[in-house]
Amino acid sequence: MELHAPLIPALHDLEQVLLTEDQIARRVAELGEEISRDYEGRDLVLVSILKGGVIFLADLIRRIIIPHQIELVGASSYKGGTVPTPGVRITKDVDQNLSGRDVLLVEDVYDTGGTLHVIHDLLNLHRPASLEVCALLRKRKQHLQRLNVKYLGFEIDDSFVVGYGLDYKEHYRNLPCIGVLRPELYL
Ligand code: IMP
Ligand code: MG
Repeated sequence: MELHAPLIPALHDLEQVLLTEDQIARRVAELGEEISRDYEGRDLVLVSILKGGVIFLADLIRRIIIPHQIELVGASSYKGGTVPTPGVRITKDVDQNLSGRDVLLVEDVYDTGGTLHVIHDLLNLHRPASLEVCALLRKRKQHLQRLNVKYLGFEIDDSFVVGYGLDYKEHYRNLPCIGVLRPELYL
């Protein structure tokens, strides 16, 4: 049985790799250490956003050495393409009350910030003891909402990327790296 990451044929669809599997793993480990230190002795709940955030969440929690719980919320803003559509739809709420708990919102990418802003407001209704944001990527652009990202993986240029949970029309989430698709593939 092959134990190394398999060579996925869809990797050939990338024009450029922005972040390699190793770069991502190293940064996720650093974030996990930092979060473990900061939340020691507190009642930590990581809340991630479906679907893109779950790959990051899965790797991140295995780098967190203190007790914690996870929750998932569903939000949909991109109707399967590369252009954001106005309005964010909540498709799934958290399963438990987060009142008085230390909530860390885990997101794959801070693009316009629309999704994070809506989920942030939703979670604030629970009256958590604290509410912070951890984003793997943030795009360099004029953000519409200026939400503070306490834990940031990488700052990237403002282009549409896929891999490591991020999709184009629901594909490419399984790529171990993050990259830009060849332009002819965007329909
Ligand atoms: P925002 O609301 O504009 O910040 O976008 C948030 C959501 O849009 C993310 O959670 C992603 O699901 C999706 N998204 C934004 N940028 C990209 C990208 O470059 N590739 C894939 N999905 C993206
Ligand atoms: Mg998406």
